[in-house]
Amino acid sequence: MNNSDKMVPLVVPDFDTYPVTHQLQRATPIAQGIELLWNDGLSNQVPVIWLREFSPDPGTFHSVTREQRIALTDIPQDLSIAQMLIAEDGFLEVDWMPEDLHSRYHPGWLRCAVADPNDPMDSLPDRKLWPLPVTVKPNWLDGAAVYRGDTDALRIWLETLLRDGIGLLDGLPANREVIPAVVELIGPIRASNFGDVFEVESLPSANSNAYTALPLKVHSDLATREYIPGMQFLFCLENEATGGESLLVDGFAAAQQLNSESTEFFEVLATLPVPFGTKDREFDHRYCAPVLEHNAVGELSSVRHTYWLRSPMSGDFSTLNTFYAAYRRFQEICDDPDNQLRFRLQPGQLMAFDNRRVLHGRDAFDPESGRRLLRGCYGEREEVESRLRILYRALRAQEQTQQTGVRA
Ligand SMILES: [Fe+2]
Repeated sequence: MNNSDKMVPLVVPDFDTYPVTHQLQRATPIAQGIELLWNDGLSNQVPVIWLREFSPDPGTFHSVTREQRIALTDIPQDLSIAQMLIAEDGFLEVDWMPEDLHSRYHPGWLRCAVADPNDPMDSLPDRKLWPLPVTVKPNWLDGAAVYRGDTDALRIWLETLLRDGIGLLDGLPANREVIPAVVELIGPIRASNFGDVFEVESLPSANSNAYTALPLKVHSDLATREYIPGMQFLFCLENEATGGESLLVDGFAAAQQLNSESTEFFEVLATLPVPFGTKDREFDHRYCAPVLEHNAVGELSSVRHTYWLRSPMSGDFSTLNTFYAAYRRFQEICDDPDNQLRFRLQPGQLMAFDNRRVLHGRDAFDPESGRRLLRGCYGEREEVESRLRILYRALRAQEQTQQTGVRA
């Protein structure tokens, strides 16, 4: 055993803090499981092995990593409960056999584990689609506070980003190092064939339409990837050129509108695989998936829409014609100025958006009239979610310490 492998029992099998919001009133053995009754009337039935595998003892969970040391096959198949009681401190205590093991379950942890796992410990903001037509103005948040490490400002930015699909920061210093520094407050940058951090300006030897002065209708980036980057960050360093206003539209709200107009159009975009391919001298990424992708529980999760990277499709003649009509209508809804947020990025402003939900674009600009220079990078939704959970975890620990003077 090395020094990091001390057999120290844990209070809970992770790094979070669990306020005791409900008391466990009764724990009753039933066939192959136990039934828990709480003081608010909630009752849960859980398999015996469910309870056993989360025993916070040092043989089951590593005391430093707090990860499981065992797999299900390390638990005896003839596992049963020898004795079970609710202790005076509210913990559920279980003696197991044939293992010689005593387990104590924290009531706050147990309640959270058996109740809706998204509530309250995983209380990330719900997604709120933009009402169409858009009537609001861009909501600029305090970028200077985020940059100097104010965790409340960071939390508000990330909550806004998850809820609205966009988080706009103003008042940042307009220098090149700002964008990686701000994005790394969230988590790692996702690199692509355009590098870790890319610069968006008109170039004579462009390897993307983005690096020209062309207008770009609203789109998502990197539709050629199996897993499209969940977040995109664009930071304005200079914007002296004529034109080049930024456009944003909620692609999920646009999809909802399409569905309300034509279920057939929505269905074809949600089911028909569409081929996309990188056009580049050095790279050849390809992926084929519906424009409106849904996740395992049937929710719309991505709009795959880098329209200039589509490859020729094959398939049923009638279905192809329906697809073209549907895709055209979807782009029309997205292109409707009434459905878009439109603004001119100023130096020191950063726009963060959910690249799989909110589509972005720009007007054409005249590179001869002045320089337009943005720095950008990609990230992931799950990094935003993770950072926000950590911020919430810290708030819970702080509240618990203020209430009791100690941490659970
Ligand atoms: Fe783009």
